[in-house]
Amino acid sequence: STIDWDVVGAEIGDHAHFLVKEIQEQPRTIERALKGRIDERFATAHLGGLNMSVREAREFRRVKILGCGSACYAGELGAQLIEDLARVPASAEPASEFRYRNPVVEPDTLYVAVSQSGETIDTLAAVQELQRKGGRVIGIVNVVGSTIARQVDGGIYLHAGPEMSVAATKSFTSTVTAFALLALHLGRIRDLAPEQGRRIIAGLNALPAQIAQILEQSDGIAEVAKEVAKSHSVMFVGRRRGWPVAREGAQKLKEISYVHAEAYPSAELKHGPLALISPEMPTVAVVPDDDLLDKNTSTLSEIKARKGPVIAVAHRELPTDLADRTIVVPKGEPELDPILLSIPLQVLAYHAAVALDRDVDKPRNLAKSVTVE
Ligand code: G6P
Repeated sequence: STIDWDVVGAEIGDHAHFLVKEIQEQPRTIERALKGRIDERFATAHLGGLNMSVREAREFRRVKILGCGSACYAGELGAQLIEDLARVPASAEPASEFRYRNPVVEPDTLYVAVSQSGETIDTLAAVQELQRKGGRVIGIVNVVGSTIARQVDGGIYLHAGPEMSVAATKSFTSTVTAFALLALHLGRIRDLAPEQGRRIIAGLNALPAQIAQILEQSDGIAEVAKEVAKSHSVMFVGRRRGWPVAREGAQKLKEISYVHAEAYPSAELKHGPLALISPEMPTVAVVPDDDLLDKNTSTLSEIKARKGPVIAVAHRELPTDLADRTIVVPKGEPELDPILLSIPLQVLAYHAAVALDRDVDKPRNLAKSVTVE
């Protein structure tokens, strides 16, 4: 393909770190993930690299997604997109677990391997094990010509440009966008109505400007991050689509700021971690304005009742008896909102790491691609 690498290239430019450069590139990287793939006429997505006939794509009865780290969390959002839009049962699992449990490989399952680098050894090993058993595997990969990209039977490239910082940012949002395109494609050859396809396309096209709007709030988020940086431990909660967003948010904070963070599904708090909530442990809550808003606000009340500080990422300012701070993000289509909701959490982790003077682009003990077992 013809990629203009210097648009979203490997140069740091005026930025203090690659990480913040890559966060800020996201309006453009999302555009590049969408480019040439949207079919307005039939309200669907074209994914030439899948190497899959319409008939084959209709025959799958299940989708299984594999990846490591942030790639797996993006896969969890991908599974929800596929279930929502294509009504095909889908789930994600760390490739590093899957490969070691003698997986049952079924002919009517579509396997999706997710890897920014295309070099992660556990993901590659899962692909090879699947193929050895006759499974069909597609890849969602950023690096063109990488080992996983060459190994899979077809796939979707992210075209996000080189990601230099160890922590995944733009590759995460581009992966979720690629899953939205895949889900739209699978949905529209099954039962997704044209007007629903058009709704998703409009939502996808709106993302770059919405992301730019979120990034304009970076200074405000940096203020919140200074408070977060003083904590020993931070709880992240979310529900349904907010749950993988919370997991990824906790991962970002841990890996670049070294502040301990845990992510829980909101409704699981009362089964244990609520015991941790105190004025010393802030909670970052993902609170989209959707049909679960009431459930989410009651979780916030439970936390506030234990005097836990709350930072909410929401679609509108929440009352101060529910959240001490609200980071407001623009609301799009509910299926795509996780892409937008995850961005303030990247910015939050970045500024917490800066406040603590961490080695942002090269966190201790971590590697960009884990090519050894
Ligand atoms: C490493 C990186 C993570 C990344 C994971 C998977 O652990 O530090 O940021 O999410 O590998 O990498 P991949 O290249 O397969 O997406």
